Amino acid sequence: MKIFLDTASLKEIREAAALGVVDGITTNPSLLAKESGDPEQILVEICNTVDGPISAEVVATDAEGMVKEGRHLAALHKNIVVKIPCIAEGLKATKVLSGEGKRVNMTLIFSPTQALLAAKAGARYVSPLVGRLDDIATPGMELVADIIEIFDHYDWECEVLAASLRHPMHVLEAAKMGADIGTMPASVFAALLKHPLTDSGLRRFLEDWEKAKALLAAKAGR
Ligand code: E4P
Repeated sequence: MKIFLDTASLKEIREAAALGVVDGITTNPSLLAKESGDPEQILVEICNTVDGPISAEVVATDAEGMVKEGRHLAALHKNIVVKIPCIAEGLKATKVLSGEGKRVNMTLIFSPTQALLAAKAGARYVSPLVGRLDDIATPGMELVADIIEIFDHYDWECEVLAASLRHPMHVLEAAKMGADIGTMPASVFAALLKHPLTDSGLRRFLEDWEKAKALLAAKAGR
């Protein structure tokens, strides 16, 4: 499963990207609004930091406006993927942009049938938002499973991007299901690595090594 970070924070992106296992970034208007600076410059800087798909979302809600904005965003950098909400106007815009060879990430997907239509419109990625379904007492991971099951029957070049992953268990479940991509905040990414037994185990290895070295030095000094 490819790992994407769901953030527009360059600090978080630089720190996580340094580990060498971040494959892409998803942003949205809410995430960009939290950062200070010009959003387009931030997007370009993100593209220069992570050489992978970088989702940048349109804010127009009519197809014509989405297409115009999508073309503009795609021209900012070769890594930009145009993120479009899964509404009727979004489907029209996706059809046009994908026909021009631009990659579209269709977002705000909350049902398998929305994902089906997004793939048929030519979306390169579909983003089911797991955590937001969990928020309303609806099992978000079941949506991811349903979409994977549907996509497995066909040869669409559309990847399942499990989004709104809020904790490591979401990431684990998405990976076990075979989601193509999981996108998560930097805090969840960090939690994937952390284990207290790794830390205490490493501490003990190093202490034992120091003790052995001291013993050898003492023997050599005799
Ligand atoms: C997806 O691409 C969205 O940007 C994101 O995953 C939403 O996450 P949230 O529901 O935690 O805001």
